[in-house]
Amino acid sequence: MTDPVVLPPSGHSATVSPLTSQPAGPLKGRIRVPGDKSISHRALMLASLAIGETRITGLLEGDDVLRTAAAMRALGARVTREADGGWRVAGVGIGGLAEPSDVIDLGNSGTGARLLMGLIAGHGITAFLTGDASLRRRPMGRVAEPLLRIGARIVAREGGRLPLAITGAGEPVPIQYRLPVASAQVKSAVLLAGLNTPGATSVIEPQPTRDHTERMIRHFGGTVDVEESAGGEKLVTLIGQPELGAADLTVPGDPSSAAFAAVAALLLPGSEITVENIGINRLRIGLFDTLIEMGADITFENERVAGGEPVADLRIRASRLKGVEVPAERAPRMIDEYPILAIAAGFAAGKTVMRGLGELRVKESDRLAAIARGLKSCGVDTEIDGDDLIVLGRDGDVPGGATIATDLDHRPAMAFLVCGMAARQPVAIDDGETINTSFPGFAALMNGLGGRIAPTPGAAA
Ligand code: S3P
Repeated sequence: MTDPVVLPPSGHSATVSPLTSQPAGPLKGRIRVPGDKSISHRALMLASLAIGETRITGLLEGDDVLRTAAAMRALGARVTREADGGWRVAGVGIGGLAEPSDVIDLGNSGTGARLLMGLIAGHGITAFLTGDASLRRRPMGRVAEPLLRIGARIVAREGGRLPLAITGAGEPVPIQYRLPVASAQVKSAVLLAGLNTPGATSVIEPQPTRDHTERMIRHFGGTVDVEESAGGEKLVTLIGQPELGAADLTVPGDPSSAAFAAVAALLLPGSEITVENIGINRLRIGLFDTLIEMGADITFENERVAGGEPVADLRIRASRLKGVEVPAERAPRMIDEYPILAIAAGFAAGKTVMRGLGELRVKESDRLAAIARGLKSCGVDTEIDGDDLIVLGRDGDVPGGATIATDLDHRPAMAFLVCGMAARQPVAIDDGETINTSFPGFAALMNGLGGRIAPTPGAAA
């Protein structure tokens, strides 16, 4: 059996798979999407710090998460995949990470790189981190800054970029850190560093961001307290050096992946689909709240709790959407969903204004520019005004007929394939490989519902 954790160095597999999405009929059926990416990274990392063997089911087997699995192995944990798709992680205990003997390549994954920096910062070991061309242009200074205060040493390229070397603190110092940007990755890096720090490490979040790290630390037996002020600010406090114990867990389906099928079903008249077993953590579902405001028929059924996270089945029926104003405060609850929301906005009646999207400029690509450029090439009037995105919806009639440059970014790639399903003319993307970072099997799953996504005829594979 091939080992899914043995990966080629990023950027060396030179495969490009152009894909085209043809206009499609109504979508019908029940699907499950792959496991949540954020939760999968954290499950592997925290299970690696727990004593004993944790079994994880529903883990996302996308490239980003497989790179984290490989990284945890390089740091000394035993990480194996079983024949039935479950994963087993034998942890080394807090303080037990070993120095990796080679450079760790995080591929396309900002979450992998930043959370790993946090873990290493609390251990007196040295590691060298790199990634693909997209990750090597992303800012790491935002994570380095608090980790330096804890006592880590970091040597990075100009602008704090990868590749970088990090030596964790031999005697980490507890800090209280106020997040200068709303970033769950920065919060998580500080908390993960705090795990091997004596005393209380705390993070002040002016705007709440996804809380999977806090939930996962508790799942393994650690203590994280959260105090919320009247103004909505959160003080998250972790008690350092807990003894974490193995604790099996199931990863729910990723709401950020479900978003693509949901919007496709809303846009294609006559559609009715159910996406089962989706994580509905309040801090992740700003997109669904927004779509409902736009007139979407989306219901949450069978609500339950699994692995410390709320989960539901989502029923989506085709709906006529209208433009809305999306406030900046909502951005952290739906930061990865703007590419697909912008597609929905292009098909809505009237103007949609999405405010406060500066962070989109430092994602896997400059998503603000990518969305505006792509929508314009599909015939939708779109404007960037400062950090706001304005889309003039065409009430169901989008010309399409464009080829989109994906620039190593999975989410615009999938969003524009959805656009092609509902537009008058097909929409192509120059590279479908990037989709594997978060959503392996995307095209097949969409086609199973009635989509028509296929390799671009005549394009070099
Ligand atoms: C993530 C946090 C977000 C998000 C990313 C996953 C996480 O990034 O965009 O896809 O798992 O913590 P930021 O923390 O940079 O906002």
